Amino acid sequence: MSAVEQMSALLPDTAAISEQGHLTIGGCDVAELAAEFGTPLYIFDEATLRRTCAEYRKGFGQSYSDTLVIYAAKAFLNRALATIIREEGLGIDVVSGGELSIARSVGFPAEKVYFHGNNKLREEIELAISWGIGRIVVDNLHELSLVNEVAQEAGITQDMLIRLTPGIDAHTHRHVTTGVIDSKFGLPIALGLAEEAISKAMSASNVELVGLHVHLGSLIFSVEPYQEAIKIVFQFAAEMRDEYGLDFREFSPGGGFAIPYTRDDPAPDVGYYASAIAEAIHAHSEEFGMKPPRLIVEPGRAIVGRSAVAVYRAGVIKDIPGVRKYVSVDGGIADNIRPALYGSRYEALIANKAAENEAEMVTIAGKFCESGDILAKDAKLPEVAPGDIIVIPVCGAYCLPMASNYNASLRPAIVMISEGKARVTRRRESYDDLMRYDVA
Ligand SMILES: Cc1ncc(COP(=O)(O)O)c(C=O)c1O
Repeated sequence: MSAVEQMSALLPDTAAISEQGHLTIGGCDVAELAAEFGTPLYIFDEATLRRTCAEYRKGFGQSYSDTLVIYAAKAFLNRALATIIREEGLGIDVVSGGELSIARSVGFPAEKVYFHGNNKLREEIELAISWGIGRIVVDNLHELSLVNEVAQEAGITQDMLIRLTPGIDAHTHRHVTTGVIDSKFGLPIALGLAEEAISKAMSASNVELVGLHVHLGSLIFSVEPYQEAIKIVFQFAAEMRDEYGLDFREFSPGGGFAIPYTRDDPAPDVGYYASAIAEAIHAHSEEFGMKPPRLIVEPGRAIVGRSAVAVYRAGVIKDIPGVRKYVSVDGGIADNIRPALYGSRYEALIANKAAENEAEMVTIAGKFCESGDILAKDAKLPEVAPGDIIVIPVCGAYCLPMASNYNASLRPAIVMISEGKARVTRRRESYDDLMRYDVA
């Protein structure tokens, strides 16, 4: 079986092998794209993106008809992607004035935009409110007053949700777990802060509290944390209804749905999450005598992760006999910090040798001045030579948005493959770009 077949769950849907034995995406030869656009290069596949959007819309819609899927833009956002998300009928979750501006620039419907973040700035809140944003997800008491104040100045009533901290450990990496009490995000239920926020929101002059939100973390492989959180939130909502008259119309269990990154870590499909979440909502709505609220889900990684590959050119090959063979590529930690930050694991393949059998185990290293700049440990590849085009699958989420100019490097070009053609959706940076904001 070829590497492409073995990695079919990790590569974009349209990945195939050409007659020449090259990896193709959407009919385009990846090695040719690397030659045309340079490396490092990020290649997104529009067909995969549209498929995942539809899968989430339908998957949740079938289990729970009153669902709005909103894409968590922090996973990756540029204008081309925002346009696809809008066309696919999803909403969007933004966490900054920047993400908001990108969404706005492509005519995203403001009412389908949710604004998250633990320290929204006054000017960001003003921008959101002046645009007519659908919901602000209030994270803390300070922000509640600020949103009320800005809404008052604008002469409007702003719809909002409150982000709760349910006190649940989703057993994922500590950098991406957010539901525990000791978190910078959200208002803990257990300590009374969430109740204080509800009581303040219910009596504030210019906000309308329409629902409650939790986000438990990222890469959550099991439904149990969601089920546990739903029980806690619904019980709290019932208490707040009885105490303050809360009308619990919207509920969001956040995002965090897992995807596979390597051949040996399969992830559940959308139906698994959707049916468990829907069942828990119905059960606890009934238990507490409430009308089931509208469900808002916020997948980020699951929408974009698999739609993109990162493409590099192999350079120096350092074989340390009996220890390890390093293959250094022309990108690394500056365009993908995930392995260094989270210990994330990746597979790799060679675009120009996609039909060849695996022959050796190598470690793909980046070119940056950090020993931790390793992209894929123990990758099984055909024999590698300098100049080979190395492809890392599942690079659509949380790589480019965290990219930097470390070592004064240039951020990569991004192309989108649509209907057999590649178009640049972000050009590669130049040395002039690097110095553009310097004042000598
Ligand atoms: C509030 C919120 N919603 C959704 C997400 C998306 O998570 P994921 O990309 O794991 O689906 C995040 C990620 O950090 C988040 O903070």
